[in-house]
Amino acid sequence: MKKLLTVIAAGIVALSASPAWSSDSDIITDNGGVLSLRGYEQVSDINKSEAMKRVPRDQQLIDREYIQQPPLIPHSIRGYQVNTNANKCLSCHSFKNAGAMAATKISVTHFETREGETLSDVSPRRYFCLQCHVPQADAKPLVENTFKPVDSLQ
Ligand code: HEC
Ligand code: HEC
Repeated sequence: MKKLLTVIAAGIVALSASPAWSSDSDIITDNGGVLSLRGYEQVSDINKSEAMKRVPRDQQLIDREYIQQPPLIPHSIRGYQVNTNANKCLSCHSFKNAGAMAATKISVTHFETREGETLSDVSPRRYFCLQCHVPQADAKPLVENTFKPVDSLQ
């Protein structure tokens, strides 16, 4: 009997302690009037998507602004798949194919694991090229940026 009472009591406590936001979804989706790159849009609202940038087929490579910058992609990548079965980028940029395709080889850093071990093939952390490399496009900066490259790169 005592056990049953404890269970009932626990149930009442659990019910009364149920979080207030479950009844009013606005509270968890309210951004509090914060201006972000989405504007003042609430998290629950779908904002107007950005227009697709026009990426020319081939263009002059824009110089890097700092030594560790992943170079931009100076060509179109439409239809290039990167998944578990295939990596279109490596069909031109791997050490094996780069010469024949007149493409830049991926650099040695792309073979290193995060523990600093050098593998004989691309490291998993460098497999999904578009995590770091993006195609060049005439896009206005999303936020103000006053970054200046070091003298040696100017
Ligand atoms: C059909 C061959 C081919 C494919 C596929 C390809 N590229 Fe390229 N890529 C090139 C060539 C050739 C260049 C040399 C620059 C140019 O376009 O004149 C280049 C240049 C680049 C550069 C600039 C390198 C530098 O010199 O600093 C990057 C970064 C790059 N590609 C990334 C990619 C990524 C990421 C993919 C996959 C989404 C990809 N490429 C797929 C041929 C290819
Ligand atoms: C985690 C970020 C990251 C990923 C993922 C990545 N790269 Fe890079 N890549 C870089 C950085 C940073 C550089 C410039 C410094 C360096 O070489 O490490 C670079 C340099 C390059 C270069 C120029 C090499 C040179 O010698 O100038 C090419 C080409 C390139 N990457 C292609 C690729 C391709 C193809 C893939 C996918 C297989 C890829 N990268 C994946 C960050 C990345």
